[in-house]
Amino acid sequence: MILDNYDRVHDYLRISLTDNCNFRCFYCMPDEDYTFTPHSKLMQVDEVFEIAKQFVSLGVKKIRLTGGEPLVRKDAATIIRLLSTLPVELTMTTNGTRVHDFLRVFVESGIRSLNVSLDTLDEEKFQLITRTGNFHQVMNNIKLLVRNEFNVKVNVVVMKGINDHELLDFIEWTRNEPVQIRFIEFMPFSGNRWSSNQVITMDQMLASISEKYEFIPVQRDQHDTSKKFMVQGHSGSFAVISTMSANFCGDCNRIRLTADGKMKNCLFSKEEVDLLSAYRNGVSLLPLIEQSIKAKAKQLGGQVSADFNQINSSQIENRTMISIGG
Ligand code: 5AD
Ligand code: SF4
Repeated sequence: MILDNYDRVHDYLRISLTDNCNFRCFYCMPDEDYTFTPHSKLMQVDEVFEIAKQFVSLGVKKIRLTGGEPLVRKDAATIIRLLSTLPVELTMTTNGTRVHDFLRVFVESGIRSLNVSLDTLDEEKFQLITRTGNFHQVMNNIKLLVRNEFNVKVNVVVMKGINDHELLDFIEWTRNEPVQIRFIEFMPFSGNRWSSNQVITMDQMLASISEKYEFIPVQRDQHDTSKKFMVQGHSGSFAVISTMSANFCGDCNRIRLTADGKMKNCLFSKEEVDLLSAYRNGVSLLPLIEQSIKAKAKQLGGQVSADFNQINSSQIENRTMISIGG
């Protein structure tokens, strides 16, 4: 069991497979030219598997694959199949563009639940946000997953003046579509042009949704980062991830591994532990993992104010979101 100094059990590992992506979402990718990590510097197939195994031996029960976009990696299917042999719940966050090519791999690997990012229901806005994306491809793939009885969560990063007027459209979509919409408060990362006045808080979101819909809260599972709600008569549901206005660090169970094999004990931590180099040098990983978790800050990496209005994003030392991996 991996316990930190605040008695939090860490049993959930998020592995980024690549910092590469076929989209260029402005809130995730930095403005300046971004060079993707060369393949040799990424964890190779066997390295992902062996490092993941070490975490599983310490009690990790759930693994989420992230990116960049995990499915742009050429050996993604091999990695998914290998990880599916571990005694964990395996899941993934994807931008949805390549899902149709992986449906069989998902089914055969026991993946039942996927998070798909989709910030707008407006085709033109989708182009603006992703800079390269094709809205219909993502939407068709969400429908394909639903038809194949996957549990689909749709991640929507809510940003003032960009997509905040679409909350009701997303809720309306859940009337007949059994997906869970997850409205995420906009978070600051290196190079993503964040400012506190672009954040729409959970309370503001709930207030606008309640103008048109009646909804009731759903019992929260332990370690849930989202607060869930059901709308009367809808086949889908919605949830809010309130990282900025009301963080859920108190029962955090998450560990992150970047595509270049660095362990991060928090999304907002500046410290990283180079597990890949240690592994390549034959150094035992278990003590390194345990030390890193013991050094985990109580909340928000110890460097982000819990009052988001006080945050100066340029003072946060962290990677860009695309190189952390969601
Ligand atoms: N704030 C909130 N969520 C973000 N994501 C990426 N960048 C941010 C940000 N700045 C989300 C993506 C994706 C998930 C991996 O993280 O939309 O759904
Ligand atoms: Fe790619 Fe997701 Fe980042 Fe957009 S938010 S650039 S889809 S990794």
